[in-house]
Amino acid sequence: MRTPLLAGNWKMYKTTGEARELIEALLHGLGDVSDREVLVCPPFTALQTVGALLAGTPVKLGAQDAYTETQGAYTGAISPLMLRDLGCTYVIAGHSERRAIFGEDDALINRKVRAALAHGLLPIMCVGETKPQRDAGQAETIVVAQVRAGLAGMTPEQIGQIVIAYEPVWAIGTGDTATPDDAQAMHATIRRTLAELAGTDVAATVRIQYGGSVKPDNVDELMAQPDIDGALVGGASLKADSFLRIVHFH
Ligand code: 13P
Repeated sequence: MRTPLLAGNWKMYKTTGEARELIEALLHGLGDVSDREVLVCPPFTALQTVGALLAGTPVKLGAQDAYTETQGAYTGAISPLMLRDLGCTYVIAGHSERRAIFGEDDALINRKVRAALAHGLLPIMCVGETKPQRDAGQAETIVVAQVRAGLAGMTPEQIGQIVIAYEPVWAIGTGDTATPDDAQAMHATIRRTLAELAGTDVAATVRIQYGGSVKPDNVDELMAQPDIDGALVGGASLKADSFLRIVHFH
């Protein structure tokens, strides 16, 4: 009922030449993906190159961030309209690196999610607790608060278009992934929160991805969990063979 979404977040990696090589290798090995959705989120500078290579293929194009405004005097920022213009269909909002390094808070992320939706982009809103928060037994409280604040004021119809990515901060780039049971427990909590916000019918359709050291050797057990509907993959999406293995989880 929920089509799994396997997404690569390339972060600040890949020149245009490197991006071309990776996409060519991905497309070469892609095979049948008719029962899943595949997405790549290159850096802004490679979107045009990658978008041209993906035209006519089942692989979708997304961006890693977008500002809240359509145009204006916002030096360095990229608008959702510009991303649509390049063929993007998804955009990540509120990645933990944006929160921690660039100081983004839930209120800004809420505005980014709304702006993306207003321009027809599907937002992937990231949430997740830090290690000290988990150790203090606060993981669920923190994540529920992030979901509620990020989606505050939105209609059930808007919430129905959003993808949530649960990415525990301590699992990102560390090789230290959440156990399938711990991830499933948090995904179920997120889905209960979505049901409170938008009703059980909408909550049942929203995809909740897991992210944080997803690799070829752990993807199958993560994806076997009932509330895990895909993966948001960093490091392992930078090489065609590992990302393809993740895409073809069984
Ligand atoms: P890693 O897969 O490198 O841990 O990164 C996860 C992530 O942050 C995806 O958005």
